[in-house]
Amino acid sequence: MKLNHFTTTESLSVEEVYALINRALELKRDPDSVEKHDVQVVNCFFENSTRTQTSFDVAERRCGFTVIPFNPENSSLSKGETLFDTMLTMDALGIGIAVIRSPQNAYYQDLVDNDDLSLSIINAGDGSGQHPSQCLLDLVTIYEEFGKFAGLHIVINGDIKHSRVARSNADLLTRLGASVSFAGPEMWMDPSMDVYGEVMDFDETLPKADVVMLLRVQNERHPELTVADYHQRYGLTLQREQQMKAEAIIMHPAPVNRGVEIDSSLVISAHSRITQQMKNGVYARMAICEAVAKGRKA
Ligand code: CP
Repeated sequence: MKLNHFTTTESLSVEEVYALINRALELKRDPDSVEKHDVQVVNCFFENSTRTQTSFDVAERRCGFTVIPFNPENSSLSKGETLFDTMLTMDALGIGIAVIRSPQNAYYQDLVDNDDLSLSIINAGDGSGQHPSQCLLDLVTIYEEFGKFAGLHIVINGDIKHSRVARSNADLLTRLGASVSFAGPEMWMDPSMDVYGEVMDFDETLPKADVVMLLRVQNERHPELTVADYHQRYGLTLQREQQMKAEAIIMHPAPVNRGVEIDSSLVISAHSRITQQMKNGVYARMAICEAVAKGRKA
């Protein structure tokens, strides 16, 4: 399959999503089936990242890409150069793909709409907008576990309003036939997400859920919250874990605030697939890299 850019879940058809999931799982079974591409890539992370940046780096190298170093802090962005002019420069230097994380929602739109740029954009997360590569690795993990999406119930718990992970997952999970509900503090619910599923009390929805998808409490945005309060009222405590179905799984995009959204001992536990998500992230991103390497204009 071929993609010119990989920016949002909404821009992907269901057929393209299944093609990416199946390719990621094939790469996991047979890493030697990877298609190597002679392409230069730059990873531009204007927000901190551990998993996404490192797993894109691993995936790109496995796909034969040449990874060109770039450090936003000592780049000319600090002198006021725009993101567009930075990408124009990368294009001129022969870079074919830019993987970008930015705090600005939909930063990619000006880049992909401009015919003067021919490099491809992979969105590694934009503000509270989208996190499509995280969503793909989440889908790979769910499909690997259950072999289907239809008939599954996924509860997404936490800061729905500010979460790009919630937005991307709610869109694709519902299009793939799963049912989604949201739980967490009322002030973090988002009416624009009503199209995807109902807001429910966590204790009510937990025993029915096949997937308990927890979100990070974004302490940098909510310094007023006390940790103990959140954990008892909204977190996955040991007591709540007892209410889960035997075959249900716990997911979290990480980084995890242990003892806040999840009891620390549940991060690595029988129900948890959190480390599996990280492992699947490399294969999901390899599938994305292959598709963009084949579909790019540059
Ligand atoms: N899940 C995720 O996006 O993690 P990082 O912020 O560490 O990349």
